[in-house]
Amino acid sequence: MDLNVALLGFGNVGRALARLLDEKADVLRDQYDLEVRVVGISTGRHGQAIDPAGIHLNSALDAVQQGGSIAGLSSTEYGASLADTVQFAAEVPADLVFESIPTNPRDGEPALSLVRGLLARGVHVVTANKGPVAFGYRELSALAAANDAGFFFESTVMDGAPVHGVAREGLPAAAIHRIRGIFNSTTNYILTRMEQEDLTFDEALTAAQQIGIAETDPTLDIDGWDASIKTVILANVAMGADLRPADVDRTGIRGMALEDVQAAREAGQRIRLICEAVRAPSGEVSARVYPESVPVQDVYASITGTTSIVDFETDTLPRLTLIEHDPGPHTTAYGMLADMVNITRGRHRGLPSA
Ligand SMILES: NC(=O)c1ccc[n+]([C@@H]2O[C@H](COP(=O)([O-])OP(=O)(O)OC[C@H]3O[C@@H](n4cnc5c(N)ncnc54)[C@H](OP(=O)(O)O)[C@@H]3O)[C@@H](O)[C@H]2O)c1
Repeated sequence: MDLNVALLGFGNVGRALARLLDEKADVLRDQYDLEVRVVGISTGRHGQAIDPAGIHLNSALDAVQQGGSIAGLSSTEYGASLADTVQFAAEVPADLVFESIPTNPRDGEPALSLVRGLLARGVHVVTANKGPVAFGYRELSALAAANDAGFFFESTVMDGAPVHGVAREGLPAAAIHRIRGIFNSTTNYILTRMEQEDLTFDEALTAAQQIGIAETDPTLDIDGWDASIKTVILANVAMGADLRPADVDRTGIRGMALEDVQAAREAGQRIRLICEAVRAPSGEVSARVYPESVPVQDVYASITGTTSIVDFETDTLPRLTLIEHDPGPHTTAYGMLADMVNITRGRHRGLPSA
């Protein structure tokens, strides 16, 4: 089967995905009968390109890495006409679009509108961007179903680890009572450096920024917003909740005192930023992000650095745990590739309604 895809976003993740699609071309062809062709690429500052015959990926990678534009890779039919990402999303002749533009934690835009437009015209969407899922999951999944399109987002929580896949396919008819985990790598890295090397919060944050784990403006991570957004996604998708990030009872780790980290260590504990969604006996789901001391024997204490963990507590399997090691753009890209394969296998059809 020929599958025309487009990359909306060609940053760390989009470029890792382009490389992975190239690396896995033979496997996709031989094992899944998929002949994948990239017919469009859209960026913020490096232009857009559409070529229905297929874009030469190495040329696109080179152009962006050298700070140039990819516009010259368009076919003559599209060459001069592509003004921006909105027009790109409206016109790209793709069966499936991979969306990886930056997450907007306030309202999910512009990605939310771009994804809505693509699904409305029956294009499958795979996104690594938390915004559209956190702010539009119910609407977008209903729109996708109405247009027989897939809307998958494996890489929004714990990168490429199959967290959504397990909830969607591995737990049929199970009632999920609680989802708990450590979803934010930056804060876990900071806490680990503090407890292992007696760094202050500011020193550990600077170290995280120096190796590119933390942003220059670390607010989203250290104030617990990223963790809250991911918790909302899991609560809404896997537990049928209808929460927004602002609904989360949120405490971050900004300014965490080294003395508190040391005191926990001396008491045989470790401080972790816990993410939790819980169903009350009334059926209502609430979500919380908060620092907590966990005993050193607890598996959560062994989650160090950028490793992450999730627990599903259900009526059938009391506690099912997934741990992801060594995340990065390459693992995020893998989650997107897995979503693509699963959509082409029809796994988006017949899902329980949100
Ligand atoms: N990095 C990871 O490992 C990881 C893990 C999980 C999820 N994610 C999510 O994946 C997404 C991409 O992450 P990334 O690390 O690849 O980010 P990135 O390197 O900053 O790349 C973002 C891409 O989107 C483009 N872009 C920026 N603003 C845009 C706009 N308004 N409209 C259209 N395109 C725009 C950028 O173009 P220019 O470069 O030309 O400006 C670039 O191609 C984010 O939502 C992130 O939260 C990332």
